Amino acid sequence: MTGAVGWVVLGAGGHARSVVDVLERGGHTVVAVSGAAPVGEPWHVDVLADDRAAFELLAGQRLHAVVAIGANPVRARLVRELVARGLSVPPVVAATATVSPRSLVGAGSVVLEHAHVGPASRVGEAVVVNTAAVVEHDCSVGVGAHIAPGAVLLGGASVGGGTLVGSGARVLPGLTVGAGVTVGAGAVVTRPVGDGETVVGIPAATPELSGTRGTRRTAGTRPHGGTT
Ligand SMILES: CC(C)(COP(=O)(O)OP(=O)(O)OC[C@H]1O[C@@H](n2cnc3c(N)ncnc32)[C@H](O)[C@@H]1OP(=O)(O)O)[C@@H](O)C(=O)NCCC(=O)NCCS
Repeated sequence: MTGAVGWVVLGAGGHARSVVDVLERGGHTVVAVSGAAPVGEPWHVDVLADDRAAFELLAGQRLHAVVAIGANPVRARLVRELVARGLSVPPVVAATATVSPRSLVGAGSVVLEHAHVGPASRVGEAVVVNTAAVVEHDCSVGVGAHIAPGAVLLGGASVGGGTLVGSGARVLPGLTVGAGVTVGAGAVVTRPVGDGETVVGIPAATPELSGTRGTRRTAGTRPHGGTT
């Protein structure tokens, strides 16, 4: 994070507030945020109208960028675009977070307060390792995934691109959760989860479709993207 004089944060909602806090507590200057701010919650920094205005500002000055937008595909797309334009999109790591020197954290990713990334883990681009989330040793987290507050990936777990691991959820050691998956808050994933699935509960299972409320199937038994 050296050489540039400040940061532009793409996003102006709740996640952006957390990211701005992390930067400012780390002694960095946030020059502006971009996008629609929640009504009645004024920002203490400049608010740019949209992401295009942020790109223009970044192109004209020596600033770092971070994308603080919760929507996984949008965040991943914007980080890719920033990187493609040669703009500076370093990972942001909170001072209270612990990131192993033997791990990799990709461009445009954020590791928020009290989170942990263990040794030999690989965290892709545009990933959110949110407050107090744990990515244990030897894990893999795909581009644009979000490990929500308090979620835990145990050793050797793998999470695909664009997946949300909900708050407080756990993925047991060595398991693979596919791409574009939603793991519900508080779930415990005990079996592999295929691409595009949603799983909830303990053990994590796919909620049945409407008309069969209350019954759940074990994760991994539903065809990828299937609608049985
Ligand atoms: C799993 C989730 C995506 C489902 O959202 P949804 O599609 O809007 O689902 P609904 O709220 O309509 O609930 C559908 C059913 O699943 C149940 N359900 C929803 N979330 C659940 C969860 N986390 N654990 C157990 N059951 C859950 C609901 O009770 C409901 O059950 P019912 O049909 O028997 O009444 C969501 O509840 C969730 O857990 N999101 C993660 C949130 C999070 O951690 N975000 C991070 C922000 S930083």
